[in-house]
Amino acid sequence: MYGGIFKPRGKQYLDFMFVPPQIPHREEELNILLDNLTPVLEGDVNAYTIPVIYGRTGTGKTTVAKKLLEAIEKKDTEIILNRLMVNCVSYSKPYNLSRYVTQYLTEIPTRGYSYQELMQMTYDTLELRDEYLFLILDDVDELIRSDKGRFLHLLTRLDEAGDKKRILPLLIARKMESINDLPGYIRNKLNGPILHFEPYNVDEMSDIIQDRVKLALNDDAISKNAVSSIAYISSALEGGDARTALTLLLNSGNIAERLRANRITVEHVRKAYEHLPGYSYRPIGHFIDERTIKILQVIAEFLSQYPDEFILSEKMLRAVRSEVAKRYKITLSHNDFIETLDRMVEARLVNKYMNKYLWISISIDSIMNLLAEYFK
Ligand SMILES: Nc1ncnc2c1ncn2[C@@H]1O[C@H](COP(=O)(O)OP(=O)(O)O)[C@@H](O)[C@H]1O
Ligand SMILES: [Mg+2]
Repeated sequence: MYGGIFKPRGKQYLDFMFVPPQIPHREEELNILLDNLTPVLEGDVNAYTIPVIYGRTGTGKTTVAKKLLEAIEKKDTEIILNRLMVNCVSYSKPYNLSRYVTQYLTEIPTRGYSYQELMQMTYDTLELRDEYLFLILDDVDELIRSDKGRFLHLLTRLDEAGDKKRILPLLIARKMESINDLPGYIRNKLNGPILHFEPYNVDEMSDIIQDRVKLALNDDAISKNAVSSIAYISSALEGGDARTALTLLLNSGNIAERLRANRITVEHVRKAYEHLPGYSYRPIGHFIDERTIKILQVIAEFLSQYPDEFILSEKMLRAVRSEVAKRYKITLSHNDFIETLDRMVEARLVNKYMNKYLWISISIDSIMNLLAEYFK
């Protein structure tokens, strides 16, 4: 009987909402943020400094914030720290955001207050109860774009009016420019750690993928090369975005299951990549010369024998060169051959990474179909 690729309910571990038990390559950042909060949890609230996390999509910003909330939950604290994470894409207007924050703490009248008054209400409520609010503003770029930093300014002003900090913000931005463009008097208040979450490199991405493979997939349900190819695509081609990696893992698994395969191979990953939103390849022929097409044909034939390979090895390339000579009577010098490969790289059919040629951006099935069209 066919056992499938995924464990029962395994796919949930590939959902973006799932908070993984481990966050490889972000532990240090998490610890810095936790250290910044430790004095607060011990009662020294005024020691808090406002941190900024920034980085591109899929670099783990939201996940680290969620892990931070989990970690706070587990700690014994001297103070009552309310915790709220808001996504500023949904609440980009100061008024909506203020309502959301205030409502989280206390019941408020449905209308009739400005956002300044609402936030004052939040502050007064906290003071009255002798409580605090840890406020994570995720994707804060949207808020800053819409109000030029007025909400952030208000937050810092409220604290200065009282004798204690009551609202402790953490800012998460996609671009540091959003923060740097703030007026100086607001920017100066962001005096905590500034953490740049860099795009994951191929090795880091592999670690992240491997953790999820263990959670979501049956034993031996993915090849080593398939894991690497997901890491290469999501890191080298798609900007180090872990979301892409999770999506490719899920979709290549679905494709493998549909084909009743026992394990995910590189070819399944390439097929999954082709179906990613935004994926585009240009039809061949328009921009590639005849000789290149012939070489492409031979490469594709070789690769089709090895659906679980994506690195064009020296050995394979040598074999391709002699086959081209034999079949088409085209004798290529080493330099000619490399030049042709580089043209394929320009056409984004082949990728070059650390001096290796990789076949990851189009499936062998698709290139075979395109070539069949061409030679018809
Ligand atoms: N270091 C990591 N370890 C495990 N999973 C990660 C890691 N970084 C990101 N992810 C996963 O990638 C996805 C995108 O991460 P997310 O935190 O939403 O990125 P961002 O907020 O920077 O766009 C999430 O599903 C998350 O679980
Ligand atoms: Mg996010």
